[in-house]
Amino acid sequence: MTQAPAVPARCTREVQSFYEAYPYPSERSPMLRSGFCLRRVLSMGSLSREPGRTLQVLDAGCGRGVGLVTCASLHPDATVLGVDICERSLQDAREEIARRGLSNARVQALDLSTLAGLEVPAGGFDVIYSSGVVHHLEDPMGALAKLREVLAPGGVLVIMVYGTIGRLEIKRVARTLKAWLAPGLTIEEKLEAARFLVQGLAKGDADECPWQAAASLADAEFVDRYLHPQETDYDIPGFFDLIEGAGLAWLQWCNPEAWSLAGHLESGPLRDSIEALPLRERLSAIEQIRAPKNLQAFAVHPENSARTLPPPKQWRETLFAANPEVHFAVGRRNLWRSSRIENVAFAKRAAEPVDLEAGCTTEAGLILSTQNEPFRGAALIEALKVAGYDEAQALEGLRELLRLELIYSPHEVELT
Ligand SMILES: C[S@@+](CC[C@H](N)C(=O)[O-])C[C@H]1O[C@@H](n2cnc3c(N)ncnc32)[C@H](O)[C@@H]1O
Repeated sequence: MTQAPAVPARCTREVQSFYEAYPYPSERSPMLRSGFCLRRVLSMGSLSREPGRTLQVLDAGCGRGVGLVTCASLHPDATVLGVDICERSLQDAREEIARRGLSNARVQALDLSTLAGLEVPAGGFDVIYSSGVVHHLEDPMGALAKLREVLAPGGVLVIMVYGTIGRLEIKRVARTLKAWLAPGLTIEEKLEAARFLVQGLAKGDADECPWQAAASLADAEFVDRYLHPQETDYDIPGFFDLIEGAGLAWLQWCNPEAWSLAGHLESGPLRDSIEALPLRERLSAIEQIRAPKNLQAFAVHPENSARTLPPPKQWRETLFAANPEVHFAVGRRNLWRSSRIENVAFAKRAAEPVDLEAGCTTEAGLILSTQNEPFRGAALIEALKVAGYDEAQALEGLRELLRLELIYSPHEVELT
């Protein structure tokens, strides 16, 4: 049911005028975010979506549309709706949608505190993105609970909020600026005064000091980071309270590498003891060690749960697809009338490229590097057999590809 948007509450109006003055982000180039691939995101929950329905996506707090435009361009068969309270940002998003000729995307002005006026597709939204938004609302948990109500039963919510531990330094700068700024200034005046202070403090200080980091930011990022009128950040207990208090269940991180101790703590008794802790305690310990600035996770209805794959003996019949969050690089040397593959590397999300280990996994990576159709496990196993590997080695190769997240298993419904 469509209702007229209600008049926003005072705090919401303050946030709204803040973004009208400085629409976020400063650059409006499309952005590939962790979790951008709809079918991979949906493959993580045990419940699949209804067959024959168009994929429905909501970007809750889409800003200038940098994530929305990417999602709509990469999924022409999905319908993408972006909502935000900032008309200036929405206008930019509209222009970008029109410039790219995206007929599957549109935006709507709407207050996420109430969702009044939201046109909910029958069956709900399959994927809801909300990146850097709910922590700016007066009642983040209440707003998240409203988003849960419009999430399809097998749907996935992709959320990013600020992390407490990773932003301690940012908070220190923000608190210092707040203490020095005269009360009652407009946001434009605050920015000017804060810029002046930051420039002075950045001079002559050590490299990579927080004042220099602040000095190098564009206006939209500067105000968003240091002068925001409404912001909550979350540690692990707070984050789980937020998700569960909204009636959702945490599924996993969008960027699991940020929550891994590999490369940060040598294997040994300390690492073993952290890894043996119950989930939340383990994550709290890692949070102290790695201090992520943002917490980015997939969340689902509690009736949904993390999907488990069938055992390897059934992988011949299982549906797989290459993970679009992975970028392959094949090192090919051209010889006299022949060429030689010297290495196959992959880069996952924002990580640096890594060479695949020589052998069956490299061969599989080489096959995958040109694979844009979903495939049955049998097809890859047979291709590896042609390359000289036996069934057991091929299954081991598949296991490694899954472990490295180079492939995922879409729900069968995606073929309909
Ligand atoms: C930091 S920006 C993030 C924008 C976008 N998600 C991105 O990552 O580029 C936060 C956005 O939330 C929007 N926002 C804040 N409060 C809102 C509310 N009550 N209803 C709708 N949008 C809101 C702001 O207008 C702003 O565009």
